[in-house]
Amino acid sequence: MLEPELRMSTVDRVLKSYLAGGDGEQNETAAEWKSRKAERARAPVPLSHQVAGHKYGIHKVGILQHFDGTVLKQLQPPPRGPCEMHFYTQVFAQECKDPHLLALQQHLPKYYGTWSPPNKPKELYLKLEDVAGRFACPCIMDVKIGRKSYDPFASHEKQEEQIRKYPLMEEIGFLILGMRVYQVDSGSYISQEQSYGRSLTKKTLKTGLARFFHNGEELRKDAISLSIHKICDILHWFEGQKQLHFYASSLLFVYEGSLHIANTKNRTEGLTRQNDKAGPENKTNVHVTSSKLKSSCGQVNCSSILEAIHYVRKVNGFGSHSLHHQANGMTADMDSKTNNVVEDKSSNEGKEENVEVRMIDFAHVFPSDSSDDGYIYGLRSLLFVLEQILQD
Ligand SMILES: Nc1ncnc2c1ncn2[C@@H]1O[C@H](COP(=O)(O)OP(=O)(O)O)[C@@H](O)[C@H]1O
Ligand SMILES: [Mg+2]
Repeated sequence: MLEPELRMSTVDRVLKSYLAGGDGEQNETAAEWKSRKAERARAPVPLSHQVAGHKYGIHKVGILQHFDGTVLKQLQPPPRGPCEMHFYTQVFAQECKDPHLLALQQHLPKYYGTWSPPNKPKELYLKLEDVAGRFACPCIMDVKIGRKSYDPFASHEKQEEQIRKYPLMEEIGFLILGMRVYQVDSGSYISQEQSYGRSLTKKTLKTGLARFFHNGEELRKDAISLSIHKICDILHWFEGQKQLHFYASSLLFVYEGSLHIANTKNRTEGLTRQNDKAGPENKTNVHVTSSKLKSSCGQVNCSSILEAIHYVRKVNGFGSHSLHHQANGMTADMDSKTNNVVEDKSSNEGKEENVEVRMIDFAHVFPSDSSDDGYIYGLRSLLFVLEQILQD
């Protein structure tokens, strides 16, 4: 128990310190306090649904979410960060007239330029559309594409390190880096980290990949089918260009895990599409319209899938007769095949807007004068395995 005099002096000290602004915060005005509170509320937070890559806190370069719903990716140290920024800037430049780059835009998250924290103007982030932003229960998977995870300028040690991480990359052409899958029976997510993808062999690859499309009750064949369409569009882009090579780049898969909400969202789709150009504040951006997808599918998908089957079979011996027959029997009307899958499911499932496949991670993109055979190989291999899953 303190003496009354001593107690008094303690109160005095606290009061004095308060009036003098002792800890630097106590003498701010109500308006300042309010604005600081608002600023805190607007501060970016770690992206809750990140499934792979650098995580926030580890070297502080993880993905963040801006309060307007966009995703913030801190620039990595040179040359990787500037390379990725240059790539996005080039593709989304207002004056861009290059038809290949313009066609590529729809396969990337939208780019909204760079962003820096107000108090750290030198810290640079890429401001990107959140590809999973409009989904209620997004199932997300990051798949690295290509036969090589290292670029042509990588040191010998770096090359060896990458090969050691997944020696099958050269043969398989893709690697699952992480996933989270919504389970309708439990209402929770199952997540898989890098080690999951690295543990997959040629034998277990199909089952390993199929897990992304299993919601605890059923295999979401509608999501597989639509993902195939979108990969085919990306493959088509790669087959038509000879100016860029991509190393250690990924495809980000997203589909709506909640069947009920998927349905509810579809009913509001007409409205959200009208707002597509509204910018980052609009979290319901829809990138590829049905008509766009259909026009390219009719020409692209059949030949691409057929070629994919022959190509991957020839190179690595994955074989499937049923797939081959199905592909041979396919007419140019790939749309109607997919529509059947959609309509068989009758209501909630199979809506195109409930599935996304976008290219991400461009820290190792290089100019070239030949087609990107490594990436094309990876896409075809991935298509082949997805088709096999559908057939089973
Ligand atoms: N535009 C985006 N929308 C939604 N999620 C994203 C987006 N970009 C990245 N992510 C999430 O962050 C992860 C890592 O992103 P990535 O660009 O590959 O970073 P890193 O260079 O660290 O590998 C992805 O696996 C994904 O989960
Ligand atoms: Mg990555």
